[in-house]
Amino acid sequence: MKIIESAGNTKMLCGFVPEGGNKILGFGKIKIPRAASQALADMKGKMGVTSVVYAPGSKYPRMLLAGLGDEVKEDTVRFVSGKIAQKAVELGVKEFSIVSPDDESASRIVEGVSMSLYRFDRFKSKQGKALPECTVVVAGRAARVAKNACAVADGVEFTRNTANMPPNECTPAVLADLAKKISKKNKIKCTVVTKSELKRRGFGGITAVGQGSGNSPRLIIMEYEGGKSGDNPTVLVGKAVTFDTGGISIKPSEKMDEMKFDKCGGCTVLGILKTASEMKIGINLVGIVPAVENMPGGDSYRPGDIIRLYSKKTAEIMNTDAEGRLILADALSYGESHYNPRAIIDFATLTGACIVALGNNVAGMVSNSTEEAARIMDASRRTSEQVWELPLNQDYMDMIKSDVADMKNIGIGRAAGTITAAAFLKNAIEKTPWVHIDIAGVAWTQAGTKEKPYNPKGATGFGVRLIMDYLQNL
Ligand code: BES
Ligand code: ZN
Ligand code: ZN
Repeated sequence: MKIIESAGNTKMLCGFVPEGGNKILGFGKIKIPRAASQALADMKGKMGVTSVVYAPGSKYPRMLLAGLGDEVKEDTVRFVSGKIAQKAVELGVKEFSIVSPDDESASRIVEGVSMSLYRFDRFKSKQGKALPECTVVVAGRAARVAKNACAVADGVEFTRNTANMPPNECTPAVLADLAKKISKKNKIKCTVVTKSELKRRGFGGITAVGQGSGNSPRLIIMEYEGGKSGDNPTVLVGKAVTFDTGGISIKPSEKMDEMKFDKCGGCTVLGILKTASEMKIGINLVGIVPAVENMPGGDSYRPGDIIRLYSKKTAEIMNTDAEGRLILADALSYGESHYNPRAIIDFATLTGACIVALGNNVAGMVSNSTEEAARIMDASRRTSEQVWELPLNQDYMDMIKSDVADMKNIGIGRAAGTITAAAFLKNAIEKTPWVHIDIAGVAWTQAGTKEKPYNPKGATGFGVRLIMDYLQNL
């Protein structure tokens, strides 16, 4: 993606047209060929509708007009930019330019185009045709913002690429190596804790879940110091179950392949650390990713086991498929006790119940801090990464009481499954403002996912844009 300040030569000049179709926004001094004025009147600016105009011999022999509709919402320019990108692919152009209607649209264009021009084809023997190059034309003052948007879009791409990896290729060890690699490039301090050390240091949740797999667990810790030393960091925690069979409480085989996406929370955290460090954002940030594979086997943990978490609290295992909360609890307690964070945010494909409650287009949020939750809601509105808060009070905490341990790892039947999972996590936090985001429904495209050009099949990278916006507005 290139950002330039005035339209140069291009194979296809693209512009946005409001409902009514009487002008191309942001064109100012750009003179359009007569054929384009005619097409403009005809296409009427309906939202998402594109029209190709040919004007051989003129400065812009091919143009693409894209309708914005009558009500331009936060997501409209991003969505329509994705439509433009898809059209460019369909036409087979090697390169195209989009003129930004105004300053604030520039980053949405960058996101919409780059997220739409995404393909995960590294395991195909025959690669598809190269994707077109895009240039965004912006006024001078918006160029820096647009360049930051490029870094965010790269972060989304990294998160998707990692999350889309098949489980045989992406084990906890591979994920840890990847974290090391991006850390080295970007001046992040990266520590990886391996199995024996995890055991010795009391990470009972991570070791229990990981013990059934030959691919042993890892705890990935990344520290980025962009603020003053001594400034309390923001700690981000992400669930990375590289494959979730359910363990001894095994899942049905239908759609079990999708459980390669059970590492999406961790991949989001890696993508955020990569982006924040590349942008040299001026705050301290810590990423903590517990990475395990949940497998059934002779060494697996079992229903009935009682384990001791990093917090020293005990948990009775009632279902080995409720594994995410066990590894997250360890990571959350570790994050709180080692970093004295200003806030902790975790991302996890934690519960199928979240899909039942909110569907495939809105993530679930549970928090112990109205202030921090409000900050996330503001970021959600600004990025169109949708989030909705669910309640958590003592009644829900009581639902995970155990007869024989401090708590059990599931609630009562299926009732409020997303909240009882969050209740378990809350036990890992003592005093820090904490926001939990359940991305089970939104981390990859599923049956109920609303079709958007910028969310092609597979991992969506949900959370990277949300948190980058949140961090930039602290
Ligand atoms: N990774 C799953 C949650 C999940 C399921 C995410 C389907 C996305 C799609 C999680 O580890 C899990 O299996 N949770 C159980 C919890 C239950 C045993 C209390 C679930 O949601 O069924
Ligand atoms: Zn599970
Ligand atoms: Zn899981």
